[in-house]
Amino acid sequence: MIPCRSLCLAARLSTLLAICVTSLCHPFPTYQEKFFNQTLDHFHPESKATWLQRYLYNDVHWTGSGRLINGCRGPILFYTGNEGDITDFWGVNGFMIETLAPKWGALLVFPEARYFGKSLPFGDASYTAENLVYLSTEQILEDYVKLLNFVKKSVRAAHNCPVVAFGGSYGGTLTTFLRVAYPSVVVGGLASSAPIGYYDKDGWSAHNVTEYTWSDIATGNYAKLSGVFTHPRCLDAIQAASIAIDATPIREVVDAFHVCSAAALGPNVPSELFAYALESLPQMNYPYPIGSRPAWPVRQVCDIMVAAGGSAAELIRAAANVTDTFFGWDGKNCIPALPEGPGGVPGDGPGPGPWGWQSCTENLHEFSARGLRNYSFDLERSARAPCRELFNGTVTPATSALADRFGGYKIPFSGVTNLIWSNGGLDPWHGGGFLPWFPPASGSEAQSNHRIFMPNAAHHLDLRGPHPDDPPDVTNARILEEKVIWGWIVEASKKESPSSAVW
Ligand SMILES: *[C@@H]1O[C@H](CO)[C@@H](O)[C@H](O)[C@H]1NC(C)=O
Ligand SMILES: *[C@@H]1O[C@H](CO)[C@@H](O)[C@H](O)[C@H]1NC(C)=O
Ligand SMILES: *[C@@H]1O[C@H](CO)[C@@H](O)[C@H](O)[C@H]1NC(C)=O
Ligand SMILES: *[C@@H]1O[C@H](CO)[C@@H](O)[C@H](O)[C@H]1NC(C)=O
Ligand SMILES: *[C@@H]1O[C@H](CO)[C@@H](O)[C@H](O)[C@H]1NC(C)=O
Repeated sequence: MIPCRSLCLAARLSTLLAICVTSLCHPFPTYQEKFFNQTLDHFHPESKATWLQRYLYNDVHWTGSGRLINGCRGPILFYTGNEGDITDFWGVNGFMIETLAPKWGALLVFPEARYFGKSLPFGDASYTAENLVYLSTEQILEDYVKLLNFVKKSVRAAHNCPVVAFGGSYGGTLTTFLRVAYPSVVVGGLASSAPIGYYDKDGWSAHNVTEYTWSDIATGNYAKLSGVFTHPRCLDAIQAASIAIDATPIREVVDAFHVCSAAALGPNVPSELFAYALESLPQMNYPYPIGSRPAWPVRQVCDIMVAAGGSAAELIRAAANVTDTFFGWDGKNCIPALPEGPGGVPGDGPGPGPWGWQSCTENLHEFSARGLRNYSFDLERSARAPCRELFNGTVTPATSALADRFGGYKIPFSGVTNLIWSNGGLDPWHGGGFLPWFPPASGSEAQSNHRIFMPNAAHHLDLRGPHPDDPPDVTNARILEEKVIWGWIVEASKKESPSSAVW
């Protein structure tokens, strides 16, 4: 993949040759792209409509080297694809692909969530309100159950192989719900940075969560940085820049930020684009460069902001440098209004397209902000009204739907077993995660599931492949995860007797 290649190139050109001798620099494994004839509506058996669901498939290591005592050729590692093109998730899941699959002789299957990437049930017409009605968490989970049944039946010697689910972010939420709702389909799951608690507002106060939690954690990256490094003046410079932007005539702000129109600055105040970039970076605050992003990108922002002089013009120039870098401005063409941001709501929220639809039905994040910007969430103004406008008045957010259906904060205590929830301290989404201390694990819950906290990790860093610059908490998390998951696989293969149907 590109990050590795550019890293190798950089290493070759500089004296950092040591990096190149690590396992990092072999090319990232590839996949076969396959399509499965999937049911459109799993809940109305009379509806016969189908569509082609894409999945990525790699059996390079599935050679029998991981043969289990029940005759299965090796475990199946299944990534529960979330809101995006599945090929993007392939590259960030080195732990499954580069570490576990070769070690365990495992089969890799990465389905794409319906309505994303190439998995469009209605082709180009998929994003109308009328056609989006088949997009829901339950339909996605049913897709995964069907696809797994198909793989186990159609792939030689796969039929009784234990399947382990993996997922990051909403993918981690899907991994959790898959195990909760279909315990016989997957033997367990690693759910990294799954913000399930954020969907269970009734449980917030008991878990020290408020409407500001997401924003406070994002802001904390610029203020104290969880001990990674500190910038005592960073937040002050950011706030001074925001005030300067909002006090400047809008034409000048549009020019300074190289955007095509005032609308591209955001729906509420002109400093919103800057706030959007600042709020997005903590999730990507990784310890090594990825693509064009440097190691610890929050530190780079703080360096730029702190180095700026105190005048309004200097602060605005520095803030524009931050957004230009964040959006990858080409130095020539203006930056258009982005469909996915900045929306009015911190984190993410109502927008056009499939994830906007999910926000407007079941996946709404009800976040206010302070620190990097001031924003007060209001259900009618922040969500209901924009959702009506986006989807022709057909939907209104059902804010407790996921918690009502799957259990929210009660999940770890529901009797479900074999789940690992891992979260990163730098990542604003950990505020909605199942954390080790809230409430403390006890008795059978502690034995059945694991809750891991990595203070120096951003969004699902543990799912990436190992890197020499990984913080020890992340390295240790992967060691524990590997040991625990292998235990599930061995246990499951003992329970399933060898079947005559083994080919
Ligand atoms: C998918 O399955 C349906 C129903 O079995 C069938 O009618 C249709 O032709 C299949 N489509 C493709 C592309 O295989
Ligand atoms: C809303 O309705 C208009 C007019 O019928 C249609 O063109 C548009 O595609 C609809 N939008 C969505 C998201 O369905
Ligand atoms: C509760 O949250 C606040 C702020 O978000 C934090 O400072 C505090 O340490 C948390 N308390 C516990 C017990 O985690
Ligand atoms: C941002 O500032 C840095 C340091 O002054 C400079 O090297 C870089 O080219 C600037 N980037 C942009 C996009 O303005
Ligand atoms: C938010 O409001 C407070 C109080 O009015 C103000 O001090 C602060 O500078 C504002 N923050 C930003 C980022 O605009």
